[in-house]
Amino acid sequence: MSLVDPARRVLSGMRPSGQLHIGHYHGVLKNWIRLQHTYECFFCIVDWHALTTDYAEVGQISENVMDMAVDWLAAGVSPSSATLFIQSQVPEHAELHLLLSMICPVSWLERVPSYKEQQEQAHGKDLGTFGFLGYPLLQAADILIYRAGVVPVGGDQLAHIEFAREVARRFNHLYGREPGFESKAEAAIVKLGKKTAALYTNLRRAFQEQGDVEALETARALLKDQQTITLGDKERLFGYLEGGGKVLLPEPQPLLGEAPKILGLDGRKMAKSNHNAIFLRDRPDDIEEKIKRMPTDPARVHRTDPGEPQRCPVWSLHQLYSSEQTRAWAEEGCRSAGIGCLECKAPLIEAVQQELIPLQARAADYQDNPDLVRRILAEGAEHARVEARETLTEVRHALGLNYR
Ligand code: TRP
Ligand code: SF4
Repeated sequence: MSLVDPARRVLSGMRPSGQLHIGHYHGVLKNWIRLQHTYECFFCIVDWHALTTDYAEVGQISENVMDMAVDWLAAGVSPSSATLFIQSQVPEHAELHLLLSMICPVSWLERVPSYKEQQEQAHGKDLGTFGFLGYPLLQAADILIYRAGVVPVGGDQLAHIEFAREVARRFNHLYGREPGFESKAEAAIVKLGKKTAALYTNLRRAFQEQGDVEALETARALLKDQQTITLGDKERLFGYLEGGGKVLLPEPQPLLGEAPKILGLDGRKMAKSNHNAIFLRDRPDDIEEKIKRMPTDPARVHRTDPGEPQRCPVWSLHQLYSSEQTRAWAEEGCRSAGIGCLECKAPLIEAVQQELIPLQARAADYQDNPDLVRRILAEGAEHARVEARETLTEVRHALGLNYR
C-alpha cells in the first residue's frame, strides 16, 4: 500500500500557450509558488490538451512548451520543491484516460458546459472530434493518476473538477469492493481506539440511516486527523462511511486562488489571443509603450476633464501594483482632474518594470541553457511516472487486468 495523502498533494496543469503574461503570474504562478512549500506539488504542461483544440497547427507546440517552462522557472516555480513535467512524457495519463473512458457515460461529457460553448466560439476550427469531447476526462486522468486531493484552478475550471469527482466516485463505486471489504472496514474501526471508534460508528449511522450530511462531514474530518491507522485503512473507512467500498481514486477538491482578475490593456480579460497582454519577458521600453497607450476613462477627453477610476482599465493595475498611498493619490487626482493620465500611469510603469527585472534575469539564464530546462522536465517526468505507475498498478488490479 502506497503512502499517498491526497489532502497534501497538489496537481495543476497549464496548456502550453507560449510566453506567459502578468495575468498568469498574479493569477496562477504566485499561488503555485506559495503552495510548493507546503504541499507535494505536481505541475504539468498539458501538451495533449493543446492537441484537443489545435490539432491542425502543431508546429509551435515544442517551442511553446519550452517558453512556458522557462517562464514557470523564472517566476520561481522551483524544481527542488515541486515536480514540473510535460504530460506526454508520462504516458500513464493516457492509459488511465483509456480505462476511465470505459466507465464514463458520453452524456456526462456532452453536458460539460465548455463543450458546447467552445464549439460555438471555435472560429472555423472543427471541434467535433472524439479528443475534444473527451478532454475533461483526460483532465480527470491528469489529476486522479496522482491521487491529488487539491487542484488549484481558476473559476472557469470548476465544472471540470466536479466532473473528475464524479468519475472518481463512479470508479470507486464499481471497483472499490475488495473481497471481505466489510470485515476489513470493521477491523479498521477497532484500530481507531474506543472513543473514536464509537464516534465514527454513530456518525456513520446518522448519515446512512437519516441522510445526515453534517454527520458525514464531521466523520470525514475525524478520519482525516487520525495518525495511527494506515492509509489503506483510512481509504476503507472513508469508503465505508458512504456504504461503498475502498476509495481507490480519491475525489479532488478545487482550490480557487484569491488573486483579483487582472484586466488587459484594453479592459477585457488579459489573454494572448486578445492582444492586450504585458508579457513577463517584455522589455522595459515595451512595457512603457504598452501602458502609455492604454485607453483610460473616456470621460477624460481633455486634461481638465475629471474622470472615474472605476471606469478605467488602468485602475485595475493600480489595485495590483500600487500602495494605498499611491492609489489614494491617483483616485483623488483623477476625480479632481488634478493629474493627467500619463502622470497617473508613471508609477505603474515603474512598478511593473521593477517587478519583472529579476524574473527576466532568471528567464535569460534558462533561455541560454535549454538543456538545463529539458533536464528539469525529464527528471520531473521520471518522478511523476513513479507515482503514476503506483496508481495504475492498483487500477489495473481493480479492473481484473492482473496477469501475474
Ligand atoms: N483544462 C485546463 C485549462 O484549460 C488545463 C488542465 C489540464 C488542468 N489538466 C489539468 C488544470 C489538471 C488542472 C488540473 O486551463
Ligand atoms: Fe485612469 Fe488614472 Fe486617467 Fe483616471 S487619471 S482615467 S485612473 S489613467
